[in-house]
Amino acid sequence: MTGADIRQGFLEFFRGHDHLIVPSARIVPESDPSLMFTNAGMVPFKNCFLGAEKPRAPRIADVQKCLRISGKHNDLEDVGRDVYHQTFFEMLGNWSFGDYYKPEAIEWAWDLLTKVWQLDKSRLYATVFETDDEAEKLWPKVTDLPASRVLRFGAKDNFWEMGETGPCGPCSEIHYDRGEGMCDLPAGHTCGVNSGCARYMEIWNLVFIQNNREPDGRLSDLPAKHVDTGMGLERVTAVLQGTNGNYDTDLLRGMIAVAEDRAGKRYSGGMSDADVAFRVIADHGRAVAVMIADGLLPSNEGRGYVLRRLLRRAARQGRVLGLTDPFLGAVTERVCEVLGAGYPELKEQSARISAAVTAEEERFGETLEKGLGLLEDEVAKLRRANTPTLPGEVAFKLYDTYGFPLDLTQDILRNEKMSVDQAGFDTAMEAQRTRAREGARFVTATAGAFAELTSRFAGDRVERADSRVVAIAAGSEARDEAREGDEVEIVTEETPFYGESGGQTGDTGTITLPGGGLIEIVDTQKPRPDLIVHRGRVVKGGVARGDLVTLAIDARRREAIRLNHSATHLLHAALRNQVGKHVRQAGSLVTAERLRFDFTQDARLSEERLAALEDEVNDHIRQNLEVSVAEMSFDDALKAGALAFFGDKYGDRVRVLRMGDYSVELCGGTHVARTGDIGILKLRGESAVGAGVRRMEALTGEGALDAVRKRERELRQIAELLHGTEEDAPAKIEKLLAAQKDLERRLAESQAKLVSGASRDLLDGVREVNGVKVLATQVEQVDAKVLRELADKLRDRMQSGVVVLGGSDGEKVTLLAAVTKDLVKRVNAGNLIKEIAPIVGGAGGGRPDFAQAGGKDPSKLAQALERVHALIPA
Ligand code: ALA
Repeated sequence: MTGADIRQGFLEFFRGHDHLIVPSARIVPESDPSLMFTNAGMVPFKNCFLGAEKPRAPRIADVQKCLRISGKHNDLEDVGRDVYHQTFFEMLGNWSFGDYYKPEAIEWAWDLLTKVWQLDKSRLYATVFETDDEAEKLWPKVTDLPASRVLRFGAKDNFWEMGETGPCGPCSEIHYDRGEGMCDLPAGHTCGVNSGCARYMEIWNLVFIQNNREPDGRLSDLPAKHVDTGMGLERVTAVLQGTNGNYDTDLLRGMIAVAEDRAGKRYSGGMSDADVAFRVIADHGRAVAVMIADGLLPSNEGRGYVLRRLLRRAARQGRVLGLTDPFLGAVTERVCEVLGAGYPELKEQSARISAAVTAEEERFGETLEKGLGLLEDEVAKLRRANTPTLPGEVAFKLYDTYGFPLDLTQDILRNEKMSVDQAGFDTAMEAQRTRAREGARFVTATAGAFAELTSRFAGDRVERADSRVVAIAAGSEARDEAREGDEVEIVTEETPFYGESGGQTGDTGTITLPGGGLIEIVDTQKPRPDLIVHRGRVVKGGVARGDLVTLAIDARRREAIRLNHSATHLLHAALRNQVGKHVRQAGSLVTAERLRFDFTQDARLSEERLAALEDEVNDHIRQNLEVSVAEMSFDDALKAGALAFFGDKYGDRVRVLRMGDYSVELCGGTHVARTGDIGILKLRGESAVGAGVRRMEALTGEGALDAVRKRERELRQIAELLHGTEEDAPAKIEKLLAAQKDLERRLAESQAKLVSGASRDLLDGVREVNGVKVLATQVEQVDAKVLRELADKLRDRMQSGVVVLGGSDGEKVTLLAAVTKDLVKRVNAGNLIKEIAPIVGGAGGGRPDFAQAGGKDPSKLAQALERVHALIPA
């Protein structure tokens, strides 16, 4: 029986008992903010249990994708360390919504296990909640399980809760005895149900949902009684297939096989580091594939960060197997094959998933090695100092600079029996947050002072307006007035200044004060939809609450912003035409200087595609389409065909911006009157900003013209430097590069000759120490590559010996140690270098036969080299 057969068999069995079969819900709970991920089959039905929603049928069965990685049910730390725990698993479940209750739930579970799947009855046990006499009596009554094998347990084992709050109730579990040999705990342990060893395994949980855990911790009664059951597919498959744990079932073995092939190593089902790595890779590979298929991408917060953590942990485990190139994409491809039958979304998105996974692996690959190196050094230090705790700042540096999620660092340290100073890490994190906050936009600090206020935007076309000052803040405090020199935030009843929003930057300009005073406004923010806050500095005079002032924006700058904002809409429309309707805006930035547009798309756009895009936008600029704005209800806007995106928040009344019939979008920004005003759009490059998101930058109007002029100037400079014309510059550069290559080759040849000659002379300096030939000598500063060659050559000539070379250019020192193979057991080049490098104020390391270091104190070079002789053991 394959895992797929078991999945199907379960559904058929319950279909036979009048259950409606439904597909799995997404791994991201649709409407439950209390949960990060669906962690049990009942999650999608939570509201049905609470009576807030009517179920599609009184009896339902399904197989639900589950993740136990956060909150109350979190198995992340255990994954890999035994052969059972997983983060992602499939839960087989059947439900009654106020329909059948305990007798049927127990009887059917028993029938499926013992009659259909024919599990050995003598190995099965049932548990019940300590006060549940009813369930205890039912077992021997509706099944042939003897009363002696029905055991009572307390709330920890037999009262099931989904999380901090939500439907819950007493439960009855079915356990399977896998036989004496399966106990994995040391002698002295007594095996038994819920005794913690691997011999007795829970396979099915029948929950009798009758309570709700309220936010204040109280338990209330639900209006009706329900059944919620859950059986881990991988576990029951392991039992039915008689495998050594879940990872040897056909549901997971295939992913391990991919890693085996890549690494050229075999999985043995044991507890070695490699076996742990294989299991983590298999498990995390499944989890990330499912998460991405359900719409998540790696990011720095929330669910996206959980995904990132999983990916990075898996990538790190790959290093344990010697895998340094991206390999997880191949694992997720296999996941999509194996699980595709049960979950079509995986089959359909296989390529997209592996591309997103690979992109993240590549990104992390750049810092992973360096981070691991740093961590290794730190661990060595701790070991020397005999302390088991890594300082919080180091863990933070790994996090902040090298992208190591804290749990990854903890995971690595666990193998060393060490841990992170969590409090220190939190302090470092908090300190950084404070720095970020202080540097952040002013409004976040003082929005509190303006909590009750509102202000009006005077409108798209208004550049100047008179209005009254309603609030002033300085130094984060509300004030009645401000004086010359003060940095202020200021709110007026009405303003022509556009507050930063929708990607469009805030306006700058001036506020003229009564009596000729002036505030220079450097930024405008919109902390709430109904509040616009100006920030600036009183350069002359003073201002008081209630003053009538004149506000004027920098109109030229606004005009440039307008062009860029309108061009963004044209670009969006052109992208959807040229690249596909899947393109959706993922962010934008519109300033006076340029526009930036982020959009969902996996592959890089070709040169031709970019040219076509540019052409299409410019074509619509020349068509000089009329730009119009209309306010309407959100529903009417959708009817009008406006682009609005699921998940974005829109108010009841929205602004619809239309450019001819070419582009219709919801937008609150400021725009040109006709597309011709934009003049020209010039793309400035396209790049990836994250998995599945690309970024395009562009210039318009005067900015585009300036950029073209600047390029021309640069090209002219190049031509002048080459003493030629712009046209023949490329050919001239090619020639120069060829000549340079030739020079480099000749230089290398003559240096090689030099090395060869030098090595003969240097050999005169060989000394014998404890029977080992040692050459520790200073050489003329030559580049590192030549120095290496010289060391190699000397080592070859000596046949057996130790070579240490030191070179200096008067400021920096280079040290290099090479040891012939026959001696590495006695003299380790890496250790040698570590000992002598500090003498010249440096550090370094390397392999037992070859190591290298840099230093800063040439005056100590001779001393460092002399020290080598003392380090040769007898
Ligand atoms: N909701 C129950 C569980 O997850 C069936 O174990």
